[in-house]
Amino acid sequence: MKKIIISFAVVTFLTSCGGGEDKKADSGSDKKETAVEDVSKNPVYQKGLELIAGSDCLTCHKVDEPLTGPSYRDVANKYAAAGDTIVAHLAGKIINGGKGVWGEVFMTPHASLSKEDAEAMVKYILLLKK
Ligand code: HEC
Repeated sequence: MKKIIISFAVVTFLTSCGGGEDKKADSGSDKKETAVEDVSKNPVYQKGLELIAGSDCLTCHKVDEPLTGPSYRDVANKYAAAGDTIVAHLAGKIINGGKGVWGEVFMTPHASLSKEDAEAMVKYILLLKK
């Protein structure tokens, strides 16, 4: 008789513990809602924009519409999935000039720009991706 009582107690104990297990799935689900980062507050963005505004870039480039050259947004989107070496590559293109990627119009060289400044400009441009 004792045995029966004990096993009954064990069964009740086990069943009463079930239930609360799948609550975990809820935690963390609201993390995805984080507000879209305001890139204009990013110092990398501000530095690059300042350099671009102080050069002749904006005579041929706009952020959202193609002018003589492609829009910076299009440039950013085109290279969004490219690796780290793209910054040096595009900086070199700005310094040396070139054509053929977006069309047959030539980008004038900017030989007086330092590699560092050209890279800072590229980093700003790449932040414009959507
Ligand atoms: C005389 C007009 C002109 C000026 C000034 C100019 N660009 Fe360009 N830019 C172009 C053209 C045209 C292209 C497209 C070249 C091509 O098709 O390969 C281009 C392409 C680019 C690209 C993309 C290159 C690629 O290979 O995809 C970047 C980045 C860029 N310009 C940045 C700049 C920056 C930064 C400045 C200022 C220092 C600048 N450009 C000044 C005309 C210009």
